[in-house]
Amino acid sequence: MAHLVSPSLLAADFANLQRDIEFVNSSDADWFHIDVMDGVFVPNISFGMPVIKAIAKHADKPLDVHLMIVDPDRYLEVFANLGADILTVHIEACDHLHRTLAAIRALGMKAGVALNPHTPVESLSELLHDFDLVCLMSVNPGFGGQSFIERTYEKVRKLRKMGDDAGAKFHIEIDGGVTTSNASALVEAGADVLVAGSAIFRAENPGDATSAIKNA
Ligand code: DX5
Ligand code: ZN
Repeated sequence: MAHLVSPSLLAADFANLQRDIEFVNSSDADWFHIDVMDGVFVPNISFGMPVIKAIAKHADKPLDVHLMIVDPDRYLEVFANLGADILTVHIEACDHLHRTLAAIRALGMKAGVALNPHTPVESLSELLHDFDLVCLMSVNPGFGGQSFIERTYEKVRKLRKMGDDAGAKFHIEIDGGVTTSNASALVEAGADVLVAGSAIFRAENPGDATSAIKNA
């Protein structure tokens, strides 16, 4: 199956959010990537529930919600009610990851787990059948526009092999510093969802940039 593209709305123009959402609706993109930051788990604060509610009203593709917040269990139901299709929590923010992933699935969403650059993919070895997506952070989370950490390729290859060996099926999503130049190498390494913020919304032609990443 072709890989998926999930434009990160963090890089959208918030004063023209409806326009940028409609752009994604009509582009080659597959999902909306929505970054929620609490100023505690990461140094930055992005946006919260009222903004996501407004996004959901206009978005006609799945909402891929990436929680960069401490103790995400407090809000799983809230995000389900907001219309999240995929809900991703950080392994570093969960004391009981198995329980959290099961709770996300029980609410009818796809369960994702995100790993910071320092977290080894082996930390998922006991849970390979318990999630639908792994988000490998290829920058330190908190900000858009940072440069890609090259070590990520090796993590993708290792994780894809772990999944294949276990007969587990899950998406491998790459988040941070994805560009039209590194997209094809990431797919070749085994990634099948590419998040891109700056590479799409700061491009001269966002539609062309989206297609280039989609067809990489
Ligand atoms: C970073 C966020 C990313 C970010 C990616 O903490 O999780 O989704 O928006 O932005 P770019 O593609 O600009 O690196
Ligand atoms: Zn993200």
